[in-house]
Amino acid sequence: MAIRGAMGLPVVGMVGGGQLSRMTHQASISLGLSLKVLADATHDSAALVANGVTVGDHTSLDDLRAFAQGCEVVTFDHEHVPGGLLEAMEAEGLAIAPGSAALRHAQDKIVMRERLAAMGVPVPPFCPVATVRDVEGFAQHVGWPLVLKSATGGYDGKGVWVVRDATEAAEVVGFGVRLVAEQLVSLRRELAAVVARSPYGQGAAWPVVETVQSDGICVEVVAPAPGLSEELALEAQELALRLADELGVVGVLAVELFEVVSPEGVPGLLVNELAMRPHNSAHWTIEGARTSQFEQHLRAVLDWPMGETAMTAPVVVMANLLGRDDDGDLDRRLHMLFGRDPGLKVHLYGKTVRPGRKIGHVTALGDDLEVVRRRARTGADYLRDGLWPEDRRG
Ligand SMILES: Nc1ncnc2c1ncn2[C@@H]1O[C@H](COP(=O)(O)OP(=O)(O)O)[C@@H](O)[C@H]1O
Ligand SMILES: [Mg+2]
Repeated sequence: MAIRGAMGLPVVGMVGGGQLSRMTHQASISLGLSLKVLADATHDSAALVANGVTVGDHTSLDDLRAFAQGCEVVTFDHEHVPGGLLEAMEAEGLAIAPGSAALRHAQDKIVMRERLAAMGVPVPPFCPVATVRDVEGFAQHVGWPLVLKSATGGYDGKGVWVVRDATEAAEVVGFGVRLVAEQLVSLRRELAAVVARSPYGQGAAWPVVETVQSDGICVEVVAPAPGLSEELALEAQELALRLADELGVVGVLAVELFEVVSPEGVPGLLVNELAMRPHNSAHWTIEGARTSQFEQHLRAVLDWPMGETAMTAPVVVMANLLGRDDDGDLDRRLHMLFGRDPGLKVHLYGKTVRPGRKIGHVTALGDDLEVVRRRARTGADYLRDGLWPEDRRG
C-alpha cells in the first residue's frame, strides 16, 4: 500500500525507539522521509527527536497493526517483536522488512545456529540444552569451560555465560530460559561483515571491521580490520552477502564473526551471530563511508538502489561511550574535547546514564591506525570520566 508523506515520499516506520532508530531518523531527514517511530516511552532516544512518535507495546498486535497502517513499510531497531506477531502482520498484508522468515535467524540463536550449520556455514560447535545433564554431555565433546547462551532476548553480553563446571551450569539452567551451549572458542579477534540487501536482490558490503569487546560489550570498531588478508576479507563479505540472499534479508545484515587459527596456523572464520538492522559495528559509516548504514537500511527497505560503500578515509575508528554512575559535566567535557581534537565526531543518544549503558559514540578518521585509534579512545574516555591520557599515568 502506498502511504505517502511530505513531497510524495513514502512513510517508513521503525519499531523501537533506541539509538538505532534515532540515527535512522537522522538519515531519513536528508532523504525527505522523516521516520515514524513506535517507542516504549516518550523519553526513548528516538522519541526525543522524531516527529511521528507513537508510544505503544511492541508485543501487542493491536499496537503494531495500528502503527503499521500509517506506514508504507515497517522496520525494526531491535529483534524483540515476537515472531508470531510478525507473521500475523504479514498475513494481514502489512509490509515489514526484514520479513518474519528472515528475522527469526536474528531472534533465536538456536534457529540461527541450526540453519547456518545446515547451510554448511562454519559456526562454533553447539548444542541446544535443557538440563545440566545435557550440558555435561556436551562438555564431554568440547570440554570446560564452555559458553551458555540464552536463545532469545540477549544483547551486549547479557544472556551469555561462561561456565566452568556443572555447578555453574546448574545456576544458568536454573534461570529457566531456552539455552544453547557452545564451545568456548579460542579466538584471535572478532570481526564483523556488514552488508545491506534490497528486495530487488541488490547487495552492498562495507569493508570488514574488527570489533573489540570488553565484558561482552562492544567498545571499539576499527575499519578496515587491521592486517586482515584480502582473501579472508573477501570471504567474509561474500559469506555475508550469501547469508543475506539465502535468508531473504531486507535491510542491513551484520554478521558477527570470530577469526580463528587452525592448528596448522591457517586463519579462518566462524559466524557468531546475525543482526538484521543497523548495528553498532557499522556506526563508523556515518562519517567513514560514502553511504551510512542508516541511509542504506532505509534505501533497502524501500527497495531503492543501494548507495556506495567506499570509505571516506583510509582508517576509521569508532569508540563507544559507555555510561558511568553519572553523566559528569558533558557540556564542559565536549567543549574541552572539541578544543583538543577538532576532527573528532561525537554522537550522543540522549539516553539517561546507567553504568555500562551505551550512551553515545566517538568517531575518528585519518591515515595512521595507531593515531586514529588513540584519538577515538581518548575522546570516549574523556567524555566518560573527564581524564586525558596524561592524567591517568602515575
Ligand atoms: N562460543 C564463544 N566462544 C568465545 N567467546 C564467545 C562465544 N560466544 C560469545 N562469545 C563472546 O561473547 C560476546 C557476546 O556474545 P553474543 O552471542 O554475540 O551475544 P550478544 O547477543 O549479547 O551480542 C561475543 O561478542 C564474544 O566476545
Ligand atoms: Mg553479539
